[in-house]
Amino acid sequence: MAKVDAQFTDHVAETVAALTSSGVLLVSVGEDGKPNIMTIGWGTIGVIWGKPIFVVLVRPSRHTFRLLNQTNEFTVNVPYPDLKEACDVCGSESGRDIDKFAKCNLTPAAGNKVKVPIVQECGIHYECRVVHKNNVAPVELEPGIMGEYYPTEDFHTVYYGEIVACYADEDLRQRM
Ligand SMILES: Cc1cc2nc3c(=O)[nH]c(=O)nc-3n(C[C@H](O)[C@H](O)[C@H](O)COP(=O)(O)O)c2cc1C
Repeated sequence: MAKVDAQFTDHVAETVAALTSSGVLLVSVGEDGKPNIMTIGWGTIGVIWGKPIFVVLVRPSRHTFRLLNQTNEFTVNVPYPDLKEACDVCGSESGRDIDKFAKCNLTPAAGNKVKVPIVQECGIHYECRVVHKNNVAPVELEPGIMGEYYPTEDFHTVYYGEIVACYADEDLRQRM
């Protein structure tokens, strides 16, 4: 299926809906060139520094954290509902141990503007370059959030990715 260029604002509703259901697929690649997929449920799209930005939060315990810090690029891929099982695998197994593209029968296709591949079988794609990152600051956190999300102090790093390309399947509306 052909992918057609989109504005970064064109598919926000579908992207947020996926974030709040099975998750979306974040791909990163290490210095060794091996891509890895991780499911994310937290993220946001907006404008910062006059740039279109996709913000993602990744805990240091993730293999993805290491890869992101090596190459500073990622893609976000919004799956169709029939990829739920792949979202579960990519959200529970680590790229340290297995090749998740192979395990889930997913295809890494070359990105247009970044070295990180997209997940071909997904419907919407964002290619991002990290322009800033910071750490969740425990002293600034509401105590309720601290207790619920950080019992092991695995504080997320917040990555601000400039969206340098956005595109989607031509027949997205019929399939999503
Ligand atoms: C629906 C869902 C959403 C998730 N969202 C995030 C997230 O936003 N940030 C994060 O650090 N981990 C998140 N996870 C956990 C990672 O996807 C999981 O730990 C994964 O195995 C890490 O893979 P990696 O070690 O290959 O990077 C989520 C898991 C699921 C199932």
